Amino acid sequence: MKTKSGFSRRALIAIGGAAMLVGPALAQAQTVKVGLILPMTGPFASTGRQIEAAAKLYIAQNGATVAGKTIELVIKDDTGTPDVTRRIAQELLVNDKVSFLAGFGLTPLAFAAAPLATQSKTPLIVMAAATSSITEQSPFVVRSSFTLPQITIGIADWASKNGIKKAMTLVSDYGPGIDAEKAFKERLTAAGGEVVGDVRVPLRNPDFSPFLQRVSDAKPDALFVFVPSGAGSQFMKQFVERGLDKSGIKLIATGDVTDDDIVDSMGDVALGTITTHHYSAAHPSPENKAFVEAFRKAANTRPNFMAVGGWDGMHLIYEALKKTNGATDGTALVEAMKGMSWVSPRGPVSIDPKTRDIVQNVYVRKVEKVNGELYNVEFSTFEAVPDPVKAAK
Ligand code: PHB
Repeated sequence: MKTKSGFSRRALIAIGGAAMLVGPALAQAQTVKVGLILPMTGPFASTGRQIEAAAKLYIAQNGATVAGKTIELVIKDDTGTPDVTRRIAQELLVNDKVSFLAGFGLTPLAFAAAPLATQSKTPLIVMAAATSSITEQSPFVVRSSFTLPQITIGIADWASKNGIKKAMTLVSDYGPGIDAEKAFKERLTAAGGEVVGDVRVPLRNPDFSPFLQRVSDAKPDALFVFVPSGAGSQFMKQFVERGLDKSGIKLIATGDVTDDDIVDSMGDVALGTITTHHYSAAHPSPENKAFVEAFRKAANTRPNFMAVGGWDGMHLIYEALKKTNGATDGTALVEAMKGMSWVSPRGPVSIDPKTRDIVQNVYVRKVEKVNGELYNVEFSTFEAVPDPVKAAK
């Protein structure tokens, strides 16, 4: 029997078989590339290191083959600079022909790449950046990290239930900081509290001292802080230098400040700090125990919330490919991710099909010593929290 091409079916099978034997071109077509753009150098390099280690660990544990395709990571350093992110994203799309863009250590970097995801119809997995509006920059953005409003309303609720009437806020002066400041103020005010002062510090090379002096003079019941992952050490150092640890002003924060990467090196001054966040290396679940153990073996350090964002971002990529049977059409992949749910090392999570943001538990935690090391120990949970900004729209 002849096919449309004029070859017999048997001949076609033979040709196909030969191509499989000789064909590096064919083998290449079976590779699905993931362009992982991260700050690997500069002040936010810890984010890059954590996500890279988690993504590699995910592949090592789950195998490099999914739905008949070989997953290949193409890792690029954007140094945390938006222009570089955009250029790298363009090169990855045009030259490397990646099927996914992923990573994005800071909000401005995700904003820089989002238009390219739309133009090329390529899924863009935000594994780190956390300003609420990022998912609105392109219908191809799916987020495996968190949003600042999602995390912050929990600490505002904890504060109002624990006798805090007057608070001040101190945030990094860009997207996630402004989101955190707004969410905290709205939530505390709605519960009858008051924000008596708000200070914004530069994202790069922040000197907290003058701001902390203002806090010290105003003597609020509590100081609420957001600074991005990695900047918490500098903040804590200056908090102590200004004597604020002995001022009676309660320090409360998002978990970015007492990040697992740095909390132990902060020393005992961090003890008792109350934060809310979606991940702690001390999260007591079998999934997390296995994750922390494997991560320590692979990377010789504790995973932080950036690592879990990277891990779950890879999970989204794998599961979406399974659903499309290995097809790499961007629209189909994003559709496959919508509504997906799974048990992450952080706890149960899902992708909100309307917003493409992650819905997750938010934990209230206290910095405590566990076996001689400082950890964020969870003591209460807000379950299945969506991004509240988009939920209200
Ligand atoms: C962000 O730039 O969106 C960002 C970075 C680090 C964080 C949180 C938010 O810890």
